[in-house]
Amino acid sequence: MKREVIYVCDKCGYESPKWFGRCPVCGAWNSAVEMKVDKTRGNFSPSSLMKISEVRLKSSRRIRTGIKVLDTILGGGLVRGQVLLLGGEPGIGKSTLALQVADSMTKNGLRVLYASGEESAEQIGLRAARIGTVEDITLTNDQNISSVLSASESFDLLVMDSIQTFYDPELGAIPGGVTQLRKVSSKVVDFSKKAGVISLLIGHITKSGDIAGPKIIEHMVDTVLYFEGEKTTDYRLLRVYKNRFGPSGEVGIFEMKETGLLGIEDPVFIGEDLPFGNAIACVIEGTHPMVIQVQALVSRSKVPSPRRNSIGVDYLRVSAIIATMSKILKLPLDFHDVYVKVLGGLRVTDPAVDLAVASAIFSSLVEMEIGKVVFMGEVGLDGMIRPPYSLERRLEILKKSGFEEIMGPFESASRKVRTLSDLAGVIR
Ligand SMILES: Nc1ncnc2c1ncn2[C@@H]1O[C@H](COP(=O)(O)OP(=O)(O)OP(=O)(O)O)[C@@H](O)[C@H]1O
Ligand SMILES: [Mg+2]
Repeated sequence: MKREVIYVCDKCGYESPKWFGRCPVCGAWNSAVEMKVDKTRGNFSPSSLMKISEVRLKSSRRIRTGIKVLDTILGGGLVRGQVLLLGGEPGIGKSTLALQVADSMTKNGLRVLYASGEESAEQIGLRAARIGTVEDITLTNDQNISSVLSASESFDLLVMDSIQTFYDPELGAIPGGVTQLRKVSSKVVDFSKKAGVISLLIGHITKSGDIAGPKIIEHMVDTVLYFEGEKTTDYRLLRVYKNRFGPSGEVGIFEMKETGLLGIEDPVFIGEDLPFGNAIACVIEGTHPMVIQVQALVSRSKVPSPRRNSIGVDYLRVSAIIATMSKILKLPLDFHDVYVKVLGGLRVTDPAVDLAVASAIFSSLVEMEIGKVVFMGEVGLDGMIRPPYSLERRLEILKKSGFEEIMGPFESASRKVRTLSDLAGVIR
C-alpha cells in the first residue's frame, strides 16, 4: 500500500504536506501532528452496493427516546445507526439530557452504554439518583476508542460524554485536539453505520478554545443539536442545526428542574412586571410558538456615534429597525444609545419579533409603559408592518395563556397597526 504523510495543526485543523513549527493559520506553536494518508484505490466489493428500497426500509423505523419534546424535534425519534452531536456550554445540561434519554430508552427495553471520559461512575450515579433513573444503564470510564467501540456492539445506544475525552492510541496526538477528535469521531461514525448502533456524542463548547470545538465534526454526523440559554435561568432551548433524518431548525424547550430537564409544550417566558421599555412578542422558533419578553433601553448618548447593542435578536435586524424608526417617525435615535435584549437567554430568529423590538424601543424613549400587550409583525425598511406566518398557531397559544390585547397588521388583532406611525399613535 502506498502511503504518504501530511501534517495537521492540532488546534485548528490546518493541513500541510510539509512539517511546520508554527501554524500559519491560527499561529499555534508545535501543533503539527503527522497523519498517514492512504493513497491506494480501494478494492471494489459487490456487497457495498444496495437498492434504495432496502435503505429506506431500514431507516424508516423510528426508535423513540421517550422524551416527547426531543422525539418531536428529531422528526419522530431516532434511527438505527444515527450519529448525533449534542453540543453546548459547560453546565448547560448535556449530561443530564443524555442520561434521561439513556434512562427512558433502557425502560423501553433497549440496551444503553454510557461511556464517560469526564465524570466518574460516582458522579454519574449521583446525577442518576437526582433524576431518578433505573440502574440498568451500563457505564464505562474507558477512554480508549477501540475498547469502547468493541464493547458497544451489543448495545442499541452508545453515549460518549464527552467525545473530546476519548482517544485513539495509534495517534501521537493528545486527547482534546483536532486530530484525535476527528479520528475518534470518524471511527464512531463508521462503527455506528456498520453495527446499527445509535451514537450520541456530547461536545463541549469552550470560549477559550483549548479544546477543539464540536464544529469540526458537524459534517460527519447525521444530526447536530445545540443547547442554548443562560445558565442563570432555568430555560434551555435545544436547537436542531442539522438533521439528515428530519427537518432542521426545530427547537425544543426545556426547563431545568431538580429532577432533570422537563419539556415545555406552551412556553411563556415573561416576568411579573412590565415597566416602560418592555414589550411582549409571540414568536415561532422551529415549529414552536412561544411568548417572550423584549427589553429596550434608550438613553442619551455621550459618544459621537451612539452605541447599539443586541442580545437575543440579530444585531443587524435591530439596527435596521432603529434606522427605520429614526427616518419614518423622525425620532432622535441618532443621539441615543440603544440596547435590546430578549429575556431568559433566548435567541429569536423569527422576524415577527420586530414589532415588539420597535415597541420596546419606543416605550423606553418616551418612557411610557405598554403593559400586557402582545406584538406580532415584521417591520419593513419602509415602515410598513407585515403579518407573521402561522398566525392561527400563535393566536392559539396566546388564548390558552390568557393574553387578550394583541397588536399587529391583521384582522383579528385587538388594535390593528399597519405602519410604524400607527404603532407610535397607539403607544402614546
Ligand atoms: N439539584 C439540582 N436542582 C436543579 N438543577 C440542578 C441540580 N443539580 C444540577 N442542576 C443543574 O444541572 C446543570 C448541570 O447539568 P449537566 O451536568 O448535565 O451539564 P453539562 O452540560 O453536562 O455540563 P458539563 O459541560 O460540565 O459536563 C447545572 O448547571 C444546574 O443547572
Ligand atoms: Mg456533562
